[in-house]
Amino acid sequence: MPASHVKILAIESSCDETSASVAANGKILNNIIATQSVHENYGGVVPELASRAHQQNIVPVVDEALKNAAIDFKDLDAIAFTRGPGLMGALLVGTSFAKSMALALDIPLIEVNHMQAHVLAHFIDDPKPDFPFLCLTVSGGHTQIVKVNNYLDMEVIGETIDDAVGEAFDKTAKMLGLGYPGGPLLDKLAQSGDPNKFQFSKSDMEGYNFSFSGLKTSVLYFLRDQLKNNPEFIEENKNDLAASIQKALIDMLMKKLMKASKELGINQIAIAGGVSANSGLRNRLNELAASLQWKVFIPDFEFCTDNAGMIAMAAHYKYEQKEFVDQSVSAMPRMKI
Ligand code: KG4
Ligand code: ZN
Repeated sequence: MPASHVKILAIESSCDETSASVAANGKILNNIIATQSVHENYGGVVPELASRAHQQNIVPVVDEALKNAAIDFKDLDAIAFTRGPGLMGALLVGTSFAKSMALALDIPLIEVNHMQAHVLAHFIDDPKPDFPFLCLTVSGGHTQIVKVNNYLDMEVIGETIDDAVGEAFDKTAKMLGLGYPGGPLLDKLAQSGDPNKFQFSKSDMEGYNFSFSGLKTSVLYFLRDQLKNNPEFIEENKNDLAASIQKALIDMLMKKLMKASKELGINQIAIAGGVSANSGLRNRLNELAASLQWKVFIPDFEFCTDNAGMIAMAAHYKYEQKEFVDQSVSAMPRMKI
């Protein structure tokens, strides 16, 4: 069957979103997401609870995706799933479900790398970048600069050696007494704060790598010292603290992205992952687009955070290459691009 008529069901279950999407003719028809609110009470994703919630959500989510696309099981041509990276117990739910469906329907099975899919989310809607481009993938679990040579040909040229930037947002937000996940809350406060009020230490790693743990410690010690003299320090300076922390994180990201763009001579710059929703990051990218003649690509928010639409997009390109896997495939929590 020509790839242009292929209908693919894609499943994402790497962390705390259970998601299903149907792609037909290379177009994403829908993107059904069940978010797991159970983790909010714990201040972070609890792996055991994530697996249980995936088990509860996966059948209704897949059902809704198929109904919404007006497609019956028997019309499907392939099943795709996120193989990794992610939480083992969470990945196993989607992997086992996809394998069972492919076996029962006797259709090909496609494994997808979650990080590659974040990059390929840029091909869901227009405008689409040309090759090669750089993608800064920033989420709660990853911080990578990826050189994208083609749909399925990507190299990670820089990454964090400790915390992911989303984790740095969440952990510093927690120090300010904000809820979980703190990134969006910190972003909101930062919008009415002074980003130059406080200075925090910014680590500079070799090449295009990042480190965010130094900044986290610097914020922790600074707050501890200030609170000794003034117990109301955080309350009185919340917006300025949020803006200053956010600026420090964005400075570190942009420094490496500018270095990579200059040294590799690539001025098409894309961002992906949950942190690409950050308004400060978006503003800074747009400023740099004007001053450095960058062409910047930011996907719709729906396709920035974890979603099966991006898995379906990746699966479409893999189907074209006939990149299928057999039933011996298993989840891979530390899968690399
Ligand atoms: O990609 P994602 O939904 O999940 C994975 O980690 O794979 O990313 C979630 C991360 C969290 O750390 C969250 O705090 C952060 O993205 N985030 C933000 C914003 N929206 C989400 N960080 C800063 N500003 C935001 N507006
Ligand atoms: Zn993700």
